[in-house]
Amino acid sequence: MSIYSSSQSTLHIAIIMDGNGRWAVGRGLPRAAGHRAGAQAVRRTVEAARGLGVGVLSLFAFSSDNWRRPPEEVSALMSLFHHFLNAETERCIEHGIRLEVIGRRDRLDEPLRSAIARAEAATVSGPHLRLRLAVDYSGRDAILEAARRSASLSRDALGGALGPPVDLLIRTGGEQRLSDFLLWECAYAELIFSRRMWPDFSAEDLAGALESFRGRERKFGGVPCGMAAHKELWLD
Ligand code: FPP
Repeated sequence: MSIYSSSQSTLHIAIIMDGNGRWAVGRGLPRAAGHRAGAQAVRRTVEAARGLGVGVLSLFAFSSDNWRRPPEEVSALMSLFHHFLNAETERCIEHGIRLEVIGRRDRLDEPLRSAIARAEAATVSGPHLRLRLAVDYSGRDAILEAARRSASLSRDALGGALGPPVDLLIRTGGEQRLSDFLLWECAYAELIFSRRMWPDFSAEDLAGALESFRGRERKFGGVPCGMAAHKELWLD
């Protein structure tokens, strides 16, 4: 395995789905309508990712800091997740998609926890795409939890207790920050920030991001391929 390539053969894309609220408000709609349109974009993106050969897709659906939102918005989001799990499980089975939810479960209500457990169990053998929905998720808390559970404090142990390294992180909605998403896993992720509001994110946008990613040289702290052999060219 070259140090210039990812250590994993499956491509892991992570997406911070931002802009639902602004999309809705800009249309004179309640924010919840933006989240519903965002759920449609999730469906489109999952389908597109599978077609583009993505191995792991991690979507930031609800951060542990999102509990600070107005109770009616939190409640609308939780209902949407519940509905999504119930409605999409069959489709995931059909398309070989394994659905997982990452994040804390103890603050979710019991019906949602059960829906998650059912969806995860029903799709566990999906071979084509691993779809990870982050709900009540904090990257810092995930690292702390991994450290608590690990027998040893090493990169391998913590890395194993967390998730696969992210190759490409996309954030929509025009903001340029990580917002506590997959902090360890994004150590060498390529970053793409898009002005597109999440509900408008399309299969073409995903394909475009992938094309841009494939044009980038990943060095993982090393030097670009070919440069080591021509060191004298850049010593001055
Ligand atoms: C950020 O937009 C989005 C969220 C906090 C929620 C993400 C949820 C979805 C995409 C909907 C459904 C998801 C699933 C998995 C069914 P924002 O509300 O912060 O937008 P703003 O920055 O414009 O206010």
